[in-house]
Amino acid sequence: MAQKTLLKGRVLSFEQSPFQADPDQAARLHEAVLIEDGRIGAMGTAQALTAAHPDAEIHDHGARLILAGFVDPHVHYPQTAIIASWGKRLIDWLNTYTFPEEMKFGDPDHAAEIAGRYLDLTAAHGTTTMCSFCTIHPESVDAFFTEAQARGQRVVAGKTCMDRNAPDGLRDTAQTAYDQCRALIGRWHGVDRISYAITPRFSPTSTPEQLEAMGALWAEHHDCLMQTHLSEQTDEIEWVRSLFPEACDYLDTYEKFGLLGPRGLYGHAIHLEPRERDRLREVDAALIHCPTSNTFIGSGLFDMHGLMRDGHRIGLATDTGGGSSFSMLRTMAAAYEIGQLRGHPLHPAQLLWLGTAGSARSLRMDDRIGNIAPGMEADLVVLDLSSTPAIAQRVSQADDIWEAIFPTIMMGDDRAVAQVWIGGRRALG
Ligand code: GUN
Ligand code: ZN
Repeated sequence: MAQKTLLKGRVLSFEQSPFQADPDQAARLHEAVLIEDGRIGAMGTAQALTAAHPDAEIHDHGARLILAGFVDPHVHYPQTAIIASWGKRLIDWLNTYTFPEEMKFGDPDHAAEIAGRYLDLTAAHGTTTMCSFCTIHPESVDAFFTEAQARGQRVVAGKTCMDRNAPDGLRDTAQTAYDQCRALIGRWHGVDRISYAITPRFSPTSTPEQLEAMGALWAEHHDCLMQTHLSEQTDEIEWVRSLFPEACDYLDTYEKFGLLGPRGLYGHAIHLEPRERDRLREVDAALIHCPTSNTFIGSGLFDMHGLMRDGHRIGLATDTGGGSSFSMLRTMAAAYEIGQLRGHPLHPAQLLWLGTAGSARSLRMDDRIGNIAPGMEADLVVLDLSSTPAIAQRVSQADDIWEAIFPTIMMGDDRAVAQVWIGGRRALG
């Protein structure tokens, strides 16, 4: 017999993108959602669903909000232990904090410990899917996928390839990167809920030969995603210009080698030239906004309003541990603040959509995760909208659902996460 669970509460599903429709009208509230064999079976009134499924196990969440689990499409799980490291901008931050930490991931025990710790921390924050950079070590990919597989999670990750401008012990070659990534794709891609992303770190740490090898691998495995970084800081862009004098801009250093395409994910994308914006739009590549990282490392202010207006595909991510939080709520708050600094405040519906359906869309997985709809995978988060006295006193004045949600977006953290479901199984609460 089918395993059935009925969650009662305020079930929020998006019917349209709040960037394309009136944000106030983009979502719909239901009284209950049925989980059946790991998927969403139905949404509806509590009475109708209880009557139709008398055999279901019931969880009554009262006024709590039930929505799709958060989707974080740009993270570095190996940077978990160096999150919140003080005082450096991008290149110095990489050399001082990141590379020494990433060096440790050739040890499978260390990789397993941090992968498990990272997945526990993110589940506690309501994140059910992420797309992670690993390190140059294949062991770091095996560790992450093994831990995610044990938790039944839909995840994407890849070996971070670097063959120059990185310390001894943290470089591969064009050939070893190609061979190791190919073996990892064969071992993991499409197994359970796991997908592989081809992952050149960024142009400065790959030779043209390595970028070419990654482009060739992507052409051979075009159903894989490809993730990298693009135009995060101005010094980085100058460096790229000096390393690739023949390229017309940063994006061209990827495009020349077959690393621009619709399944490409480009992290940060802050300081874009008009040509780069046009090309990214033409190929319908995904831009991943990482707001806590962009303020923490001092990178700049992403142009959410202009890029959305022009029809770009955009996800919202923590960028752990350049980002300063594991929480997608905190990440939405930072996106709101950056929007304010640019003169375009994001509506709470737009923030929630970006952290769920929008990010799933950036991963080209919006047919399976990131929303509550019949047939979709049952990855859910249940939020207490009065999780602290400060939030509760503000919510008591709320006139509508968005006013009730916004204080949790701005001030909420893992204390707001009451329960988490991953693939129809209770993972927390
Ligand atoms: N650019 C290249 N590598 C990294 C990284 O690990 N974090 C961030 N924020 N930017 C990068
Ligand atoms: Zn990153």
